[in-house]
Amino acid sequence: MQNNSNPIGFFDSGIGGTSIWKEVSRLLPNENTIYLADSKNAPYGIKSKKEIIELCFKNVDFLLKKKCKLIVVACNTATTNAIKEMRATYAVPFIGIEPAIKPAAIYSKTQKIGVLATKGTITSELFYEKAKQYTNVNFVEQIGTGLVELIENGKIESEEMTQLLNQYLQPMIAENIDYLVLGCSHYPYLIAQIQKILPNSIKIIDSGEAVAKQTKNILMQNNLRNSNTKKGEHLFFTNNNPTVLQNILQFSTNVNYLDF
Ligand code: DGL
Repeated sequence: MQNNSNPIGFFDSGIGGTSIWKEVSRLLPNENTIYLADSKNAPYGIKSKKEIIELCFKNVDFLLKKKCKLIVVACNTATTNAIKEMRATYAVPFIGIEPAIKPAAIYSKTQKIGVLATKGTITSELFYEKAKQYTNVNFVEQIGTGLVELIENGKIESEEMTQLLNQYLQPMIAENIDYLVLGCSHYPYLIAQIQKILPNSIKIIDSGEAVAKQTKNILMQNNLRNSNTKKGEHLFFTNNNPTVLQNILQFSTNVNYLDF
């Protein structure tokens, strides 16, 4: 029988999924969690679907050994390429993340929406199928080549980052977008930089809050909420430099190195 105090598992190709973890743990503060950063294998976004599926299975096996009761795939690339296969293989409930194009499509006035995501997400069948439902808007898609690597190397505020963001965002501004959808869980860490480039009229959307609400709903539907009212305990694992993960979390906790 599933024990409700068992942790919620999270994984990402690296540290970016902590942007999702932060939203979930804010909404569900009494849940225990385990976060796995597969940073050694980042970026996933340039890998084949087959490679992404294999990495996802390896991550899920690790989290299930730790007795996770639900898994949040805190990575758009992993979700759009492998969620179907994960759901077909494992009995545990999965929450996936996809670029939040729905709210942007509903509220856009210029009917032009920028989507910044990895190659793996933008070229996925799942993203293509979702995007084509919104016939009223045009998506200005941009692959964020190099952004994940810079974030994984702790270079969020570097000159290289500013240059890449300018290169990717200026054409979107010229296209008159009024929403920018961040389709990669690493990118919320770039919001301050992005805001320096975009005019105030362009709104930025990411998926964190929606994923947190969905996680709560699925826990409730499956009777998996932790009834213990004390603050949850959190474990972090990475197969790369623990300091980078530690820095992005911005609170004092032990990050465990894992040879994985
Ligand atoms: N955080 C992952 C995502 O949401 C990054 C993918 C990558 O490693 O390229 O897509």
